[in-house]
Amino acid sequence: MKRKKVKKLLSSPRLGSNVLVKGWVRTKRENKNIIFIALNDGSTIKNIQIVVDTASFKEDMLKDITTGACLAVTGKLVESQGQGQSFEINAKSIEIYGKSDPETYPLQKKGHSMEFLREIAHLRFRTNTFGAVFRIRHAMAFAIHKYFNGKGFFYLHTPIITGSDAEGAGEMFHVTTMDLKNMPRNEDGSVDFRNDFFGKETNLTVSGQLEGELGALALGDIYTFGPTFRAENSNTPRHLAEFWMIEPEMSFYDLNDNMDLAEEFVKYLIKYALDNCHEDLEFLNNMIDKALIERLKFVLENEFVRITYTEAVSILSASGKKWEYQVGWGRDLQAEHERYLVEEHFKRPVILTDYPKEIKAFYMKQNDDGKTVRAMDVLFPGIGEIIGGSQREEQYDRLLDRIKEMKLPEKDLGWYLDARKFGTAPHSGFGLGFERLILFVTGMSNIRDVIPFPRTPKNAEF
Ligand code: 4AD
Ligand code: MG
Repeated sequence: MKRKKVKKLLSSPRLGSNVLVKGWVRTKRENKNIIFIALNDGSTIKNIQIVVDTASFKEDMLKDITTGACLAVTGKLVESQGQGQSFEINAKSIEIYGKSDPETYPLQKKGHSMEFLREIAHLRFRTNTFGAVFRIRHAMAFAIHKYFNGKGFFYLHTPIITGSDAEGAGEMFHVTTMDLKNMPRNEDGSVDFRNDFFGKETNLTVSGQLEGELGALALGDIYTFGPTFRAENSNTPRHLAEFWMIEPEMSFYDLNDNMDLAEEFVKYLIKYALDNCHEDLEFLNNMIDKALIERLKFVLENEFVRITYTEAVSILSASGKKWEYQVGWGRDLQAEHERYLVEEHFKRPVILTDYPKEIKAFYMKQNDDGKTVRAMDVLFPGIGEIIGGSQREEQYDRLLDRIKEMKLPEKDLGWYLDARKFGTAPHSGFGLGFERLILFVTGMSNIRDVIPFPRTPKNAEF
């Protein structure tokens, strides 16, 4: 007999038929003659109830059916006699694939803290919460490709190992095969990378944008979707050292087109989740965040506010609030400022534009005022910055001046400058932090709980 996934079984039940299901025991209840097993196979948050007539099975085998054990069960699918489920399986045969010692299996019935579950991240997939989170994470990844494919964007695979620092912030992990205890040195004491694997200094990428731009300036519209790495020592519920980013890059888009795309894109993803992940969202809404579904709908139905950085600074200055970090033109906004704008002042997502050039990356297009750049940050309730992007500086001279001004390694950026030398074009793009999106869509509060195995300062377990 062919195995049926529980999701399929429940969505098109053939009552009276014999079925084979395989999964892990969530709970086992027993009375004198009958055992009830809640079996979960991960295909859905719903368990299938297995009803076992104890007289028909060996007692020894039944004893080994404990929480966490893995079973294959055949039996007849029938309407359930009890409450809480529509169908159940009357077991005819049971095979135990893997026992699970009840003394040491860490997932018992009582609720566990997120911190504890993080320590057993290898087993937390087996909880309702993490099952829901990772099914939704999958659905969002799928929807991202669906969205861009539908719009004629090409998925471009940009390198993970690179010699450049796309954001110019110096927060990179080195990649080397050299003996760390015995690094060859130049005369001035700096490391000599000529004999390293790539013959030069390399690192894990912080962003695929620069290479993405080169793709866009030939293919038209592209997007990347891959892992990115930041060696920033930020121990917060919003930062990971390894996270996934989606970076669309579009020829002939100005900043307004860029904002329109960003807003349409995240609304598409939220709608996709509401339409396709209903059971998991319902569960998270009940157990994790009672306002989740309402918040998702609210964001879907309301236009994002669009204001400049300068306007935002005025609002913050006039707010009468006591800030931990000072507000002033030219200073970067902190989480407390972003949250005030989104959660208290406007009470909806906000796109801030035209930041001072000193606090943004070298590649952003400069405005005529000589002070600001065509940047955009999309700020979300409970999250803060979910997207960062800009129109790109497409003029060769201006870009070169900026690279020199910021003392960036001009010789390493020759290929990037070439894109402005040969058939340059106005273009724009942005980066959506995948885990921040998943935080928003699931209502989870710590970014470590929306990626299977988080990498953060002092932590790279599993
Ligand atoms: O604002 P960022 O640094 O922008 C870029 O990397 C540009 N190259 C994007 C582009 O224009 N193509 O990062 C983009 C987004 C942020 O808004 C945030 O959502 C997420 O990536 N992000 C992080 N997510 C988790 N952990 C971190 N340490 C993150 N740093 C950025
Ligand atoms: Mg940013």
